[in-house]
Amino acid sequence: MIPRIRAELGVAEMAAALRWPRHDDVARYEQAFAASMGQRHAIAFGYGRSALSIALQCLLGSGREVICPAYTCVVVAHAIVTSGNVPVFIDSHADDFNMDLDAAAAAITSRTGAIIATSLFGHPVNLEHTDALRAAHPDVLMIQDCAHSFDARWQGRAVQGAGDFAIFGLNISKLMTSIFGGMLTTDDDAVAQRLRAARDRKCTPATLAKGLRRAAYLAAVVPAFMAWPYSVVGRLKDWGVLDHFVRYYRPDVIDMPADYLEAMSPIEARVGRAQLARHAAILTARRRRADAWRKRLAHEAGLVRLPADEAGASWSHFSCVVDDREAWVARWRARGIELGTLIEYSIPELPAYGAWQPAAFPHAAHYARHTVNFPLTSDLRDG
Ligand SMILES: Cc1ncc(COP(=O)(O)O)c(C=O)c1O
Repeated sequence: MIPRIRAELGVAEMAAALRWPRHDDVARYEQAFAASMGQRHAIAFGYGRSALSIALQCLLGSGREVICPAYTCVVVAHAIVTSGNVPVFIDSHADDFNMDLDAAAAAITSRTGAIIATSLFGHPVNLEHTDALRAAHPDVLMIQDCAHSFDARWQGRAVQGAGDFAIFGLNISKLMTSIFGGMLTTDDDAVAQRLRAARDRKCTPATLAKGLRRAAYLAAVVPAFMAWPYSVVGRLKDWGVLDHFVRYYRPDVIDMPADYLEAMSPIEARVGRAQLARHAAILTARRRRADAWRKRLAHEAGLVRLPADEAGASWSHFSCVVDDREAWVARWRARGIELGTLIEYSIPELPAYGAWQPAAFPHAAHYARHTVNFPLTSDLRDG
């Protein structure tokens, strides 16, 4: 079965993982990452959510409101809460997956400290709109969540450069991976200096045990996602046997991984740097496969909406809105293709957040039940 995701890890990444560690592995990755994203600074963390939580704590303190999408990865809200601040959820747009920026503007109050603009599934956020928000509210931080959008572009302009800083998640489900890991980028020298100091103060150095855990994870993940072993892995996943490894949240709990304040390990940095060399090729191939899916699915029964056809999208996912999600998943599984059902919740509906803002988020709720994503990996053998 073709898995819904598969990190494009090859010989270069394996060789990088096996290389003897250098004291500056992480610094070299940071420099290469910043250069690749066209930003002056990059600061590495254990996870993307660690970067967000530490940055909010450092730049806002606590007790401020942070505007974020209702329809995004729940760990974003967890990071806001962990930083001591309060998430204010905003519904998605009626005709695209991103947060409704008019609703975000209307939600700004004197308590607002930051807005998290997310280019969900790689669809670039409208930068004209975020620029206008920044101009109208210069004291509110604009954070670009680029976990799905490595170098996605709005009318030719890179989203990661259009805020006070950007965060990236780098786990194996992302466009590029450093096994786990997260990155924060910025063009602002003063912000970079403060955040680097905060990172060094808050995070403990990566231990040898963490490096070994990451190496073991990498060694397990590469074969597990190959097509035929994945048929077995997929079955085990369905039975819940792998929950400990694949479940990234519990609906009723706001938490962070036990090691979220441990620095990125050198092995992660080496793998991440090897991946950077392939970023352009990965992006080009994913765009080609997205085009192929668009043609193939255009007349599929039960399709409600194909993803927007944007030249600057970075295609972390090829996400369609469909009528009967379970039927789609079953139909494509029978054809040997696993569909993803990301993101399968609207955050304010989760028990962990239900009491905070019980108001309705109709578009987020609809996407949470009707979105499927198709694989865009090299398993599709479209060249
Ligand atoms: C939209 C979005 N933002 C942020 C993150 C945080 O990344 P991490 O898992 O590295 O904490 C994710 C992660 O999966 C994500 O999907």
